Amino acid sequence: MGDVEKAEHQMHRVLGPWHLTLLGIGGVIGAGIFVLTGQAAANYAGPAIALSFLFSGLACAFAGLCYSEFASMIPAAGSAYTYSYATLGEVFAWIIGWDLILEYLFGASTVAVGWSGYVVSFLKDFGVTLPSVLVNAPFSYTPQAGLQLTGAWFNLPAVLIVGVVTGLLVIGIRESANFNNGIVIVKVTVILLFIFLGMRYIKLENLTPFIPPNTGVFGEYGWSGMMRGAAVVFFAYIGFDAVSTAAQEARRPQRDVPIGILVSLAVCAVLYVAVAVVLTGLVPYKQLNVPHPMAVGIDAAGPALAWLRPLVKMGAIAVLSSVILVLMLGQSRIFYSMSRDGLLPAKFGAIHPRFKTPWLATTITGVVSLLMAAIFPIGFLGELVSIGALLAFVMVCAGVWVMRRTKPDAPRPFRTPWVPFVPLMGMLLSGAQMVALPFDTWLRLILWMALGLVIYFLYGHRHSTLHKA
Ligand code: ALA
Repeated sequence: MGDVEKAEHQMHRVLGPWHLTLLGIGGVIGAGIFVLTGQAAANYAGPAIALSFLFSGLACAFAGLCYSEFASMIPAAGSAYTYSYATLGEVFAWIIGWDLILEYLFGASTVAVGWSGYVVSFLKDFGVTLPSVLVNAPFSYTPQAGLQLTGAWFNLPAVLIVGVVTGLLVIGIRESANFNNGIVIVKVTVILLFIFLGMRYIKLENLTPFIPPNTGVFGEYGWSGMMRGAAVVFFAYIGFDAVSTAAQEARRPQRDVPIGILVSLAVCAVLYVAVAVVLTGLVPYKQLNVPHPMAVGIDAAGPALAWLRPLVKMGAIAVLSSVILVLMLGQSRIFYSMSRDGLLPAKFGAIHPRFKTPWLATTITGVVSLLMAAIFPIGFLGELVSIGALLAFVMVCAGVWVMRRTKPDAPRPFRTPWVPFVPLMGMLLSGAQMVALPFDTWLRLILWMALGLVIYFLYGHRHSTLHKA
């Protein structure tokens, strides 16, 4: 039995609904709201980005109910990968596991690029200007023009933060409940300050028309732009599944995990919609295509709010580093579970003799994530993360439905209400957001999944524990 498993078996059931809700908020609020909101508003939705947040939150609520059923049935590491291994079989589990790399590993890269944007801008406020070739990706990305060369070398701050977090994870720094609670307080305070102080400087003309007319191209403003915006800002909700991974530490998982998932989702949705309205009310949305949109919003409010600027930036820097840590921790646990099942080499699950951490899985996660963060811009990465996580949601919702038919009598401490309506809505709304994503994001997803299948048939299928058994 590996150390991660041992640790799981030794976990105490100490978390109540309040802790679980804070854990959810801790895993959720990050680069999505601090960074992607601006770009999604500028490129796709305009002020209707507030509606995008509402729509996406609803899709997450349906999926969250399905996650709750699985988490109560199979409270183990590996999240959606483990659920599908138990319900849909090895190939599907591999597909989900491979897909979750997009959510977690690429997610960490995305947040690192956002972190870099805030650090660069924070230093600039103090007169320190880093050379632009070292703080930008060599590629820029817009859905219209695709990837283009920028002349920059690589994003050094993003590389540094991923390197530091990888080092911390290897030597065993873990997110304790208190650390998480502290960061949650910072997150919520910064966001509430932005909403309540910024609200007074909203200019109504920035919010009209609330849904800018479509340009004639699907996804560029109008209703289709609102949908595409939803698919992009869906990234902001990723992380509530962290609550489901804590099921075995919950005092009453049947009741408290669904509470944790749904209350944290509701709190985040309300905060997100409010930030979206204030942000697009402060600045004409076309000016928001920047890596630090909330700082741009504060600047637009004028000198009265100048004191808030460093606070928001410092808050963002602290908050984003914790999200990188959580996502990379999640990824190493998924790799660990996959190697335990023989789908990845056993070395992936190797535990460091001194630090007692899955050091190789963590280091590989760190190196790949660091390379991605060095060369790709945030929009390019974020859309890939969103489509990957949406696919996982579709599979989890489908899994709940399939299980109700194939194993109707299995004990379910928490039952998703109104099956098949809820799983079906989760699949439809998540699927609709996937459809709204640009074609080249789909292409990247298809290539990624094809690569995954090749690896499965070359390696995983032959070496898996099931196959050997
Ligand atoms: N939801 C997390 C974020 O927005 C991943 O950073």
